[in-house]
Amino acid sequence: MARHLITSALPYINGIKHLGNMVGSMLPADVYARYLRQRGHDVLYICATDEHGTPAELAAKEAGLPVDVFCAQAHDAQKAIYDGFELSFDHFGRSSSAENRDVTQHFARRLHANGFIEERAIRQVYSLADERFLPDRYIVGTCPHCGYDKARGDQCENCTRVLDPTDLIEPRSAISGSTALEVRETKHLFLLQSKLAGEVEAWIDANSADWPTLASSIARKWLTEGLKDRAITRDLDWGVPVPADTWPELAAEGKVFYVWFDAPIEYIGSTKEWADAAGDGETRDWNSWWYEADSGENAVRYTQFMAKDNVPFHTVMFPATQLGTREPWKRVDYVKAFNWLNYYGGKFSTSQRRGIFTDAALELLPADYWRYFLMANAPESDDTSFTWELFASSVNKDLADTLGNFVNRVLSFSRKRFGDEVPAGAAAGEAEAKLGEQIAALLAEYESHMDTLQFRKGAQALRALWSAGNSYLEEKAPWMEIKTDPEGAALTLRTAMNLIHLYAIISEPFIPGSAKAMRGAFTLPSDDAPWVGAEEARALASVPAGTPFTVPPVLFAKITDEDLASYVERFGGDPDQAA
Ligand code: 2FM
Ligand code: ZN
Repeated sequence: MARHLITSALPYINGIKHLGNMVGSMLPADVYARYLRQRGHDVLYICATDEHGTPAELAAKEAGLPVDVFCAQAHDAQKAIYDGFELSFDHFGRSSSAENRDVTQHFARRLHANGFIEERAIRQVYSLADERFLPDRYIVGTCPHCGYDKARGDQCENCTRVLDPTDLIEPRSAISGSTALEVRETKHLFLLQSKLAGEVEAWIDANSADWPTLASSIARKWLTEGLKDRAITRDLDWGVPVPADTWPELAAEGKVFYVWFDAPIEYIGSTKEWADAAGDGETRDWNSWWYEADSGENAVRYTQFMAKDNVPFHTVMFPATQLGTREPWKRVDYVKAFNWLNYYGGKFSTSQRRGIFTDAALELLPADYWRYFLMANAPESDDTSFTWELFASSVNKDLADTLGNFVNRVLSFSRKRFGDEVPAGAAAGEAEAKLGEQIAALLAEYESHMDTLQFRKGAQALRALWSAGNSYLEEKAPWMEIKTDPEGAALTLRTAMNLIHLYAIISEPFIPGSAKAMRGAFTLPSDDAPWVGAEEARALASVPAGTPFTVPPVLFAKITDEDLASYVERFGGDPDQAA
């Protein structure tokens, strides 16, 4: 048993996330967390809403709410959706928490004490119309690198380059659209990343060997371009305040930390929130997950999940921040980065509401349909595309035909012919021995893909396990067998029911709701086995003859041509790209 800390990139508080966000961070983290828990590991899966910065302020303004009220409501709305997707967070916190304020201020004081923070006077864009400085997303303009005309002051969405507001060509205020801008001098704190560059590089050299290429190549590219000192404070109303004990003047001016400074620290903050939320008589030790957690018997393995635009912040900037504290904070061991999920070859877009949003998805179909499809088509080695046509065919073939139909056919037929207990029938023969071997081999394959976080391959192996059951059933054809050899038919059905129980266990990371229904079909004296060992897989005998069972409602409904047409019409598709 090992201790696994898992975090997924914190979703911004502004607005409901789309399926592309879901598959690039929270969903794979959940699948992995569930898998590791089932394998008997001690898992802590932490996430939170990323609540500070200009996105939050702008969204609150648009909603006509004070920013704290807006964030509280938006947090609850996102949390409800993630519950709907059955994301098994140990804690889903808020970066605006008191815990995060404390840890963030602690980090800043330490960095300052170690000479890695410096106060500098800089020239910032000031809007005369809005009577305020325009940091980050408060300013939009044309990207100097790729020419995209809606680039934001902090990052270009098109080419993912990190920007400074003064880099933008033809800048304008995102609040008023005003171009009456001038540059004024103001003081800010700078994190002296250049001083930490060598250390970060050495750390990446020593730790990134097994990261996916996507993560290590982005980290390297970033280092090659040079690690620049970066302003870590902003002139905003909403954020973690600069601590007055260390910087009285800046604190008096109301400066707050930049959202990308406090957001990754919230991984720690949220863990502290988790500990603070412990019930009576329960102790939760947040510290042991983060502090001096690199070796010894309590050693933690830390895996982060994120989309590719987040990689620089997690592989370079956050580690630099951690290293600069000169305290033994746990750093990431494995960075699972994802490419983009596109919608018919184009981008999902929150601002243009293009694609499918997580709330709409759940209104349409239960979580398992989405979970399975998204993970089976996760953009691991390349960008992938969502199309309704692909979604429908994958749901119909894999979930409805291969798994759902198997479960229903076996249980209904057995009940009809043998009543509501698992029939005994003949002793297992050659076909069952062959099936057992096949299942054990496929299970080993599945485990090895899951252990190495290769989710598409994991989903493929799972599908192959479901298919193996179908082939066995087709070959034995109990509906024919029963006419001449009822004992043989009973054996076939008992074996198939054992497959259903095995599927219930091993499919849980991907489709927890359906897995529960499958497992719940059998009334076993005790059914708490978290996983299936190779021997058990070979024997296929964990559900003995005489076990009472029920037939669950149809697990997966097929998506009909009419459904498909209505989805395409409602969400917009592109028949030319549907192939
Ligand atoms: O890109 C984003 O959606 C950010 N909110 C991710 C933050 S991850 C972490 F560092 F907090
Ligand atoms: Zn650009």
